[in-house]
Amino acid sequence: MSNNKNKLKHLAIIMDGNGRWAISRGLERTNGHAAGEHALSNAIDWAIKNKISWLTVYAFSTENWLRSKKEVDYLMFFNRDILLRRRKEFNDKGVKFRFLGDLSDNKIPEENKKLMIETELLTKLNKKLNLNFAFNYGSKTEIHEAIANLHNKNLNKKLEKYEIENNLKNYFQFPEIPDPDLLLRTAGEKRISNFLLYQISYTELVFIEDLWPDVNEKILDKVLLEFNNRNRTYGRNK
Ligand code: IPE
Ligand code: IPE
Ligand code: MG
Repeated sequence: MSNNKNKLKHLAIIMDGNGRWAISRGLERTNGHAAGEHALSNAIDWAIKNKISWLTVYAFSTENWLRSKKEVDYLMFFNRDILLRRRKEFNDKGVKFRFLGDLSDNKIPEENKKLMIETELLTKLNKKLNLNFAFNYGSKTEIHEAIANLHNKNLNKKLEKYEIENNLKNYFQFPEIPDPDLLLRTAGEKRISNFLLYQISYTELVFIEDLWPDVNEKILDKVLLEFNNRNRTYGRNK
């Protein structure tokens, strides 16, 4: 299905259910993450095909450090492995990467940091799809940091409420990212899990039961149709 009406400019996805996908097949949770790669690359192709210019995916949250060492180690390995194997292909497709989250964290292996920085540089002139990869991302931390940065830039000045409202976004890591139009969460959980709290104040929410590794074009088409049928009123009466 094509996105003719082109109302969807920015799709954000909480890619959930990898662990359950694997466990239900008698596999290790880490196999579920590996299986999710296919769904991610399909979603990238689908977004390009449908002229959706921004895609933000939640790959690793600041809370995900609480998982077993084995799983965290695997997720770190997997992140660099995907970038090493596929960044050329994504670059050729015109994907521009931004890594959203705290990359300065000591818990992230140096090789991962290096690859993420390199990938941002490699793809920075691309225009087909802006892919924001939320990695070691937590929305509360993002908001606290933006407030601290705003405050530090304006020492000795009492800020009015409207000045904070008008300026806060400029102190986010990537001020140029528009707010998502649609947030999709897979795997049946109906919560936000510290993702883009400030940015989704008027975002449409869709929750589906499908586990992330099972998500394909057909499912994404249905989600897009649901979005295009929604009436976004922003507080107005129609
Ligand atoms: C989402 O799948 C991927 C990450 C959080 C990295 P999960 O690993 O949360 O899968 P479930 O929710 O346990 O099934
Ligand atoms: C959110 O999923 C984080 C990612 C998809 C990366 P989780 O599975 O970690 O979230 P909770 O634990 O269900 O809230
Ligand atoms: Mg989960």
